[in-house]
Amino acid sequence: MTDLIRIVYISRATFATANPDDGVEPTVSRILSTSRTNNRKNGLVGMLYYGDGCFFQCLEGETSKVQALYKTLLKDPRHKDLKILASEPIKRLSFPDWSMKYVPVDEHMCKLLEEHGFEHFDPYRFDHHLVERVMQLLQGVPDPTIPPVEGRASAPARTVLAAGLPTQTDTLAPAAASGSAKLSLAISIAALVISVIALVLVLSRL
Ligand SMILES: Cc1cc2nc3c(=O)[nH]c(=O)nc-3n(C[C@H](O)[C@H](O)[C@H](O)COP(=O)(O)O)c2cc1C
Repeated sequence: MTDLIRIVYISRATFATANPDDGVEPTVSRILSTSRTNNRKNGLVGMLYYGDGCFFQCLEGETSKVQALYKTLLKDPRHKDLKILASEPIKRLSFPDWSMKYVPVDEHMCKLLEEHGFEHFDPYRFDHHLVERVMQLLQGVPDPTIPPVEGRASAPARTVLAAGLPTQTDTLAPAAASGSAKLSLAISIAALVISVIALVLVLSRL
């Protein structure tokens, strides 16, 4: 069985953030695009949050692949001060549908930060509990950069299949099950229609 790992790390952007009202910051948008292409190839999944000049990223996948990516990330000049907040083996992927989910700053995050006495998103001051809360929040927020149908079901699910990771059955089984249920229903209806026609024919000859 493949060894799976999850890491959560934070970093500071080295670029100046463009006007946050203009949608996704262009540098972040380029990072997302590369991440999605590469992660799909490598069977990696995760999510990326960017706020107040800081990144918060969760990466999951085969241990060797995640570690190799982290080495690459350390050398990327677009961010600095990388710090791992969590690193643990996992049994299944938490984001099987996402090669890289992007979560923008939203009112839920602002509220959570406020509740914990933060004026800005400053993950360097988060304790373990707040890291967990942020993770839970990010998992529930939709990604505005991908339409739900494409983002949730098609391409990323194929990523998991291509990687041969253990969750592929979990991810694909419900779809397969609903497909066979539809087929059985169609066969039953066809059988019923044929029976009714046969009955009508028999009755019409009497
Ligand atoms: C905050 C941040 C997150 C990134 N996340 C990923 C990622 O999930 N996957 C990835 O392949 N590259 C990611 N990158 C980009 C990598 O550092 C590196 O530029 C890229 O993997 C090189 O890919 P290429 O050789 O295809 O150009 C990230 C960069 C930054 C600054």
